[in-house]
Amino acid sequence: MNFKEGMLREGALKGKNILVTGGGTGLGRSMGSYFLELGANLIITSRKLDVLKQTAEEMMAEKGGKVLPLACDVRDIEQVEQMWKDATEAFGTIHVVLNNAAGNFISPTERLSTNAFNTVLDIVLKGTSQVTLTAGKDWIAKKQAGTFLNIVTTYAWTGSGYVVPSAAAKAGVLAMTRSLAVEWAKYGIRSNAIAPGPFPTEGAWSRLLPGDLVKKFDPAKKVPVGRVGEHQELANLAAYLVSDFSSYVNGEVMTIDGGEWLKGAGEFNNLDMIPQEMWDMLEASRGKKG
Ligand code: HXC
Ligand code: NAP
Repeated sequence: MNFKEGMLREGALKGKNILVTGGGTGLGRSMGSYFLELGANLIITSRKLDVLKQTAEEMMAEKGGKVLPLACDVRDIEQVEQMWKDATEAFGTIHVVLNNAAGNFISPTERLSTNAFNTVLDIVLKGTSQVTLTAGKDWIAKKQAGTFLNIVTTYAWTGSGYVVPSAAAKAGVLAMTRSLAVEWAKYGIRSNAIAPGPFPTEGAWSRLLPGDLVKKFDPAKKVPVGRVGEHQELANLAAYLVSDFSSYVNGEVMTIDGGEWLKGAGEFNNLDMIPQEMWDMLEASRGKKG
């Protein structure tokens, strides 16, 4: 057994209806696929209905189960409310919301237009809060338990230059996750987050490592375990956090990054660059003095 394999037992998510925002592509698609394999039904939602429809067909052909594609721009509250109405009419009850949709790109912050900054804030923070509030209000009114899982990033707590709107928005999502974990626990609603390190996807790579940058900045080199993430290992963690096996986990943010952010955080971690011979010389010169 290894990290490229599914982890939970067959049927672990049987009977669960799970909404995945940004579920037609990338990590949302990979997590959704595994939920389906474990017996869940899915609603996948994003702006591009053609992409969602194709993904839904491919997922059902591969894994069986039911996948409902619904178009919804999470920035628009009317579309969010309509999407939630359509999803609940089709499935009866939604048990889990995976807030995964995001927008991001790299840029020096002073080059960003107001609209560029707001676009990312609106997708990530406003989009997540609108989906969360719509689902949460409905669950509370119906006295129904529910689970939120929000995808953030490790720079939600460290901050990061060149992706400042994303960092600010993900920090907001993390604060919302922890706040609601306490406030809404009394309604049977859990809130957790995952902070992934680099996991190759077309969406992220094309925007964060455009053109030749992908050759210059190999993301694996920044990761202490020496590689980027496999989608299945993220899917394993996500499946656990939306399953009933994690009933006592609430308000947590789980990092899955091979140690990447800690390596960047330690002030002297870049001493990695010093060759062994130089350490030998330093040790020898110390020996002489002592
Ligand atoms: C500077 C940019 C820009 C760029 C767009 N804009 N791209 N500014 N650099 N690369 C500006 C535009 O000029 C415009 O401002 C404003 O942003 C809105 O652009 P639109 O194209 O009109 O927006 P929209 O069609 O809504 O598309 C949103 C988007 C796009 C965020 C710009 O990239 C998108 O659809 N992204 C969705 C998927 C995504 O981003 N996936 C990656 C997630 S990865 P003006 O002033 O000209 O009107 C991720 C990983 C993090 O989050 C951690 C990795 C380790
Ligand atoms: P991705 O494939 O580009 O996923 C982003 C998804 O969000 C797309 O399906 C997109 O679909 C949807 N989306 C964007 N704007 C939307 C809007 N306004 N309304 C509704 N849906 C919208 O990239 P990804 O790498 O899989 O990212 C998934 C999540 O992981 C994001 O939250 C990202 O921040 C996080 N993450 C990724 C990495 C990584 O290394 N890949 C690392 C850390 C965190 P449409 O275009 O059809 O709307």
